[in-house]
Parts: sequence; C-alpha cells; structure tokens
Amino acid sequence: MPGDNKGARRKGNKKCLACMVAGIIAQILIIVLFVLLVMRIRNLKVRLSSVAVENLGVNFSASSPSFRMNLTALVTVKNTNFGHFKFSNSTATFSYRGTKVGEGTILQARVRARSTKKLNVTVSVDSKKVSRKSLLHSDINSGVLKLSSYAKLSGKTHLFKAFKKKKYAEMKCTMELNTKTKAIQNLACK
Ligand SMILES: *[C@@H]1O[C@H](CO)[C@@H](O)[C@H](O)[C@H]1NC(C)=O
Ligand SMILES: *[C@@H]1O[C@H](CO)[C@@H](O)[C@H](O)[C@H]1NC(C)=O
Ligand SMILES: *[C@@H]1O[C@H](CO)[C@@H](O)[C@H](O)[C@H]1NC(C)=O
Ligand SMILES: *[C@@H]1O[C@H](CO)[C@@H](O)[C@H](O)[C@H]1NC(C)=O
Repeated sequence: MPGDNKGARRKGNKKCLACMVAGIIAQILIIVLFVLLVMRIRNLKVRLSSVAVENLGVNFSASSPSFRMNLTALVTVKNTNFGHFKFSNSTATFSYRGTKVGEGTILQARVRARSTKKLNVTVSVDSKKVSRKSLLHSDINSGVLKLSSYAKLSGKTHLFKAFKKKKYAEMKCTMELNTKTKAIQNLACK
C-alpha cells in the first residue's frame, strides 16, 4: 500500500535525522576534547634539580666576612604541551638576603613536545656586594647560608607548525649552602 510506504520512508528519514544529529554531536565532542587536551597550552615547569659547589672560599672574620664559590646547576624545563617550546637566552640569578651574588646564562634551547630538557648553568658567586656585614658574619658562623635563585624563560610554544603562542616560565628556588659540608642542601623549587 502506498500509505505504508510513505510511513516507512518517513520513519527512515527520522532515523537518519537522529543518526545525523548523533554524528554531529560526536564530532563536536571530538573537537572539544581535541581543543581541551591537545590545543590547550599548559605552563612550563622550570626548576633546579641539583646544584654542585666548587672551590668554596669562606672568610669567617667579623671585619670582612665573605663567601665565594662556583656553582654548577642543572636546570630542568618540563614541557607537557603537544608542541615544542623554544626559548631565548636568559639569566639565572642567585641571591643572598635579597642581594644578587651571582648569575649564569641559561642558553637558548628547544624543548620537544611532552619532554623535559636538562641544561647546565655555571654561576660564579661572590658576596662582595652584600652590605649587611654583621648579618653575613653571623650567617656564615651559623654554618648555613640561605640562598635563592630566580630565572624567567621567555619563548614560544608551537603547535602543529601553524599556531604559536608567547609563553614565559619562571623558576623560583630556595636552598641552603652548608659551609661545613661545602654543599647545597634543602633545595626546593616552586
Ligand atoms: C669560577 O669560574 C670562573 C669562570 O669559569 C673562573 O674564572 C673562576 O676561576 C672560578 N672560580 C673558582 C674559585 O674556581
Ligand atoms: C679574611 O679577611 C681578612 C681581611 O680582609 C684577611 O686579613 C684574612 O686573611 C681573611 N681570611 C681568610 C681565611 O681569607
Ligand atoms: C645566546 O648566548 C650565546 C652564548 O653567550 C651566544 O653565543 C648566542 O649568540 C646568544 N643568542 C642570542 C640570540 O643572543
Ligand atoms: C652537565 O654537566 C655535567 C658535569 O659537568 C655532565 O656530566 C652532564 O652531562 C651535563 N649535562 C648536560 C645536560 O649538559
């Protein structure tokens, strides 16, 4: 019967409409998931993973307390993005009670997608700019000097060659120099 045929066709159209809508929803979901998981640009994590002390020289005298040393720091840059991060030369500074006592260069590099890059930084530290000598004297004689380190990496995160986004990452660490063991202890990064 013609009427039945029409009804069946209408039913078929309805079914098709339903599967089209489902298909569109599925596509939207895939796009949303893609944007949320793959296209989202996450922050980079920069930290000091180790700091080695070389040639530590300490003057314990009250009249001219001082310390100097060379540090070899291992900086790690963790990139959890689905694209690489390229940053330019930047400076890692080391401070003692707010006074800069040394700095080193973090050489420009490219951190591959979803990977961690390790970079060596050498820093020559000298307390000659520290003005509060009595405080320095008492810190030196306590055997533990609190130091902090800061760096800001500026660069771009690239996604699929087509997208670039300016991104910067900060490194903020604190540590203690133990003048007896001549080593860095309690290294912690934010
Ligand atoms: C620290 O490193 C600098 C530069 O590499 C070097 O000239 C200096 O002699 C070193 N200082 C010590 C105490 O080893
Ligand atoms: C500490 O500094 C004073 C004054 O500059 C100097 O006379 C003395 O030799 C220094 N001591 C050490 C161990 O370097
Ligand atoms: C980065 O620093 C290195 C070593 O100091 C230098 O050779 C290089 O030219 C610098 N790169 C830029 C882009 O300034
Ligand atoms: C950093 O320096 C240490 C000691 O000099 C060396 O063993 C290590 O391979 C270096 N790491 C990198 C990533 O350059």
